[in-house]
Amino acid sequence: MNIHVAILAAGLGTRMRSRRAKVLHRAGGLPLIEHVIAAARDLALPQNMVVVTGHQAALVEQQIAPLGVRFVRQQEQRGTGDALANCRKLLEGEGGLLMVLYGDTPLLSAATLKRLRDTQMYSHAAATLITTTLPDPSGYGRVMVDGDGNATAIVEDKACTPEQRNIRVINSGIYCFRAELLWRHLGEIQPNPASGEVYLTDMAAILTAHHEDVRTMHIEDSRELLGINTRVELAEADRLLRARKAEELMLSGVTIERPETVAIDARVCVGMDTVIEPFARILGDTQIGEDCVIGAGAIIESSRLAAGSMVKPYTLISSSRIEAGAQVGPFARLRPNADIGPNARIGNFVEVKNSRIGEGSKSQHLAYLGDARIGDRVNVGAGTITCNFDGERKHQTRIGDGAFIGSNATLVAPLEIGVESYIGAGSVITDAVPEQALALGRGRQVVKTDWVRKKKSAVRNKESEVRSQKSE
Ligand code: UD1
Ligand code: CA
Repeated sequence: MNIHVAILAAGLGTRMRSRRAKVLHRAGGLPLIEHVIAAARDLALPQNMVVVTGHQAALVEQQIAPLGVRFVRQQEQRGTGDALANCRKLLEGEGGLLMVLYGDTPLLSAATLKRLRDTQMYSHAAATLITTTLPDPSGYGRVMVDGDGNATAIVEDKACTPEQRNIRVINSGIYCFRAELLWRHLGEIQPNPASGEVYLTDMAAILTAHHEDVRTMHIEDSRELLGINTRVELAEADRLLRARKAEELMLSGVTIERPETVAIDARVCVGMDTVIEPFARILGDTQIGEDCVIGAGAIIESSRLAAGSMVKPYTLISSSRIEAGAQVGPFARLRPNADIGPNARIGNFVEVKNSRIGEGSKSQHLAYLGDARIGDRVNVGAGTITCNFDGERKHQTRIGDGAFIGSNATLVAPLEIGVESYIGAGSVITDAVPEQALALGRGRQVVKTDWVRKKKSAVRNKESEVRSQKSE
């Protein structure tokens, strides 16, 4: 059956106390609305999804346009019923089923949406809505159910009588309508007398008044239906999404120590037999191969790690690449576009930016490597600095295969250091070094033999001179 999806995301999100649109706040590493679109993707093609935007519409649209969905704008945020009415032009002619979702329910699963579709498809009801029972239903609309399990009305929290407030069966905000009936009756919703808003939830009573059934589909695990209105709920959604992701990875063969402490974004992929230690954060589109180790407290963002690579504790990596068998850290920092070759080693307090480190090369301690092209089997001594910035422009340092850079070398770019050459420790190197040469650029050592003894005897002579002058 033909199915379309409308996602309401125009609201102000007042209770978030934020300047940013609520649906752009992130949980589990994605904006709330992206989770909702992802769950709906198994049911409908993106071009059959319409997102209603309003508050910060341009920003919201820019963020999710790459997903291929369509947009309509709600000019004024006059309630969920009014928001859906804006979809009429795009969707009224389509017929079939219309699923309506809210952009602030990020835990919703594709499986639940499929169940909702099937429940509606095989019933004669005008609509099916998802309900659940909450220990604390405050903030949610309460669902009035008749003896046959049909919803006859939804009463918003604010409008509840004291008895209604005790009802713990709530409206999830997830509905599947017979589209034709929805469009026929949607215009009948009257603005709420208290708030002036047009509540989509009034459709339950309106359809009932027209002798149409509104089925309820009750869900046991209410966590899936959490609607995010405050930052407290946002943190809870984030926690649940992270737990879900960690579990999915563990079931696919990844070891995670103390999974409740790690944060792994929704789109991250991790290969079999990789071990993730406590407090690691793996973010963005990061891809990690098989048999890797991600050390405690490491933060890895939008990077690719090949099989068998190792990130030691407290290392920061962003937009970089680590090839097979390479080791990075502890306490290293890879800034964007660091490319660490196979079996290379980057050790503690080494910072690498926009640089290629060749196969088997090593920089084990305290270095800055920026805009460098370092060949294979190069040894970079402790304290080496590539001086890539002249105050106006960035320049490149190129180091040939097998070169040996002594400790505390200062490499002033642009610079070319030849294959298998040596740079003496403590050198400031400003000119090209040919292959197999030794370059030294430092003050020559001076040794003054017996300097201490001579100095002491000079002092003693002076003192005895003073004493003899006093006694005269
Ligand atoms: C809504 C339901 C409530 C339900 C709860 C579930 C209504 C009237 N109430 O309440 O019964 O229990 O969700 O989480 O529907 N939006 C617009 N335009 C508007 C107003 C809202 O697009 O003018 C969007 C928001 O961006 C949001 C969604 O609709 O994504 C829900 O709005 P929200 O204000 O969060 O509704 P709740 O008060 O949570
Ligand atoms: Ca809400």
